[in-house]
Amino acid sequence: MYELKDEYLVGIESIDKEHKVLFEIADEIYELCINEFVPDKYDNIAALIQRLKDYTEMHFAHEEAYMESIQYKRMFTQKVQHDNFRRKLEEMDLEVIDENQEETIKDLLKFVTDWLVEHIMETDKRIAE
Ligand SMILES: [Fe+2]
Ligand SMILES: [Fe+2]
Repeated sequence: MYELKDEYLVGIESIDKEHKVLFEIADEIYELCINEFVPDKYDNIAALIQRLKDYTEMHFAHEEAYMESIQYKRMFTQKVQHDNFRRKLEEMDLEVIDENQEETIKDLLKFVTDWLVEHIMETDKRIAE
């Protein structure tokens, strides 16, 4: 359902590869969302959030290091957007999640996919300009 489309390509191979993985994680969230055979999704949600945190942390670090290496002018905007994403994941409360599992997955899926597409199309793409 969710995957890196050609139109999302930034043109920097290492960054595009990592974006591909981020879409794969988004797709796993989608699969969990539509899976009706898992009555309690708490462990899966917690694991996916952790994976997303770990992977974005690594990706943002790579992207920021790359921008520094080319003395990228719009680095500040990038960092602010990365920090907002980090904060949103940090703020997810596992207790609240347990009580509203379906809603949490739906919200998380929407947040992640909207953010990824918008950030890549509007912000990451400009790195290669
Ligand atoms: Fe970025
Ligand atoms: Fe990125």
